[in-house]
Amino acid sequence: MKTIKVRLKERSYDIVIGAGLLSKTGALLQKLGLGKDAVVITNKPLLGLYKRDLETSLHKDRFTVRFELVPDSEKAKSSNVALKLASRIAAYDKKRSVFIIAFGGGVIGDLAGFVAAIYKRGVPYVQIPTTLLAQVDSAIGGKTAIDLNIAKNLVGAFYQPRMVISDISLLETLPARQIRNGMAEVIKYGVIKDRQLFAFLEKKYSDILRRDKESLEFVVSRSSRIKVNIVEHDELDKTGLRAVLNYGHTVGHAIESASSYLSRYNHGESVAIGMAVACDIASKLKLTSPEVCERIKALIKKAGLPTKITGLNLSKICGSLAHDKKFVRGKNRLVLPVSIGKVKIIDGVPDRIINEAIKKNLKNG
Ligand SMILES: NC(=O)c1ccc[n+]([C@@H]2O[C@H](COP(=O)([O-])OP(=O)(O)OC[C@H]3O[C@@H](n4cnc5c(N)ncnc54)[C@H](O)[C@@H]3O)[C@@H](O)[C@H]2O)c1
Ligand SMILES: [Zn+2]
Repeated sequence: MKTIKVRLKERSYDIVIGAGLLSKTGALLQKLGLGKDAVVITNKPLLGLYKRDLETSLHKDRFTVRFELVPDSEKAKSSNVALKLASRIAAYDKKRSVFIIAFGGGVIGDLAGFVAAIYKRGVPYVQIPTTLLAQVDSAIGGKTAIDLNIAKNLVGAFYQPRMVISDISLLETLPARQIRNGMAEVIKYGVIKDRQLFAFLEKKYSDILRRDKESLEFVVSRSSRIKVNIVEHDELDKTGLRAVLNYGHTVGHAIESASSYLSRYNHGESVAIGMAVACDIASKLKLTSPEVCERIKALIKKAGLPTKITGLNLSKICGSLAHDKKFVRGKNRLVLPVSIGKVKIIDGVPDRIINEAIKKNLKNG
């Protein structure tokens, strides 16, 4: 078991990483003074898999447990679901001392964190991330949110959890596509900050994909440490440091939203393509070498992720990109690789260069 401290003054907390932690949840939470009534926000499939273990562990340390179920999709991140949850918690909360446990992937983490932030202007919450993406990314850093029709994550709050428990064993039941989804973010960490992590992924990608616990624990710890470091220096996304986390995400988001009605690409797959396109843009701008680009693209492919776009046309993707720009004051800001472990943030890259790079990565035209 590894512990990573997140140092944010009075909002500091621990991230605990290891195999088999679910059965220790009660003991881990015991010393935090959260209250004694746990409201676990999760979904039906996860309840089926883990209800008994989680409940037993919490009961053992004298917590009461109530499960609140939400739909198993991005649709759970809606104002409707959030407010209904708050009402149900309020009805249950008479003469109790409630705290919230987010038990799920990024969807549940974002939603449960948001509800914890707004219910009674804030009750304590704990993240138990169950996807690789949530363990390495979304459960860390205190960004909570729900979606609006116009765009994702538009309503939210910075609200730090009191603990994050990343149980590697939970990844055993995660579908292979979801492991790859998280791998895209892990590759991102390697490119932006950590060439040793990148080299580890190049060597051990197949062990990770078959969920070897030791490799996963290394990858989750190393990635968490990078995100923690960035968050500690830019908790509220104000100094620009947190921006490096957007490597692959500008074009990635455009692909994700252009393909959303087809559900062709999930987040990690879109980011993987976005990282490949960012390589080509960096190459064109002579920021990086073709060798660095090839290494990054080769690792993306080894991880079973796409570097090329199929089934979408340039105008659709560019339309989404332009829409995205409206939310960043009309200018694009790209995180571009320089070498493995080092990126540069460039503002106002000409649209022509971005379009060319996207075009280069379109399959069948
Ligand atoms: N807050 C942040 O900083 C941040 C960062 C990145 C992403 N996000 C958000 O995260 C969300 C995506 O999260 P995600 O990729 O984890 O997807 P997800 O939460 O939808 O989970 C993916 C699927 O895996 C299933 N699942 C989860 N854990 C499982 C397990 N252990 N075994 C079997 N099945 C399991 C879920 O039920 C779901 O069907 C998006 O809404 C995104 O906006 C937030
Ligand atoms: Zn991401």
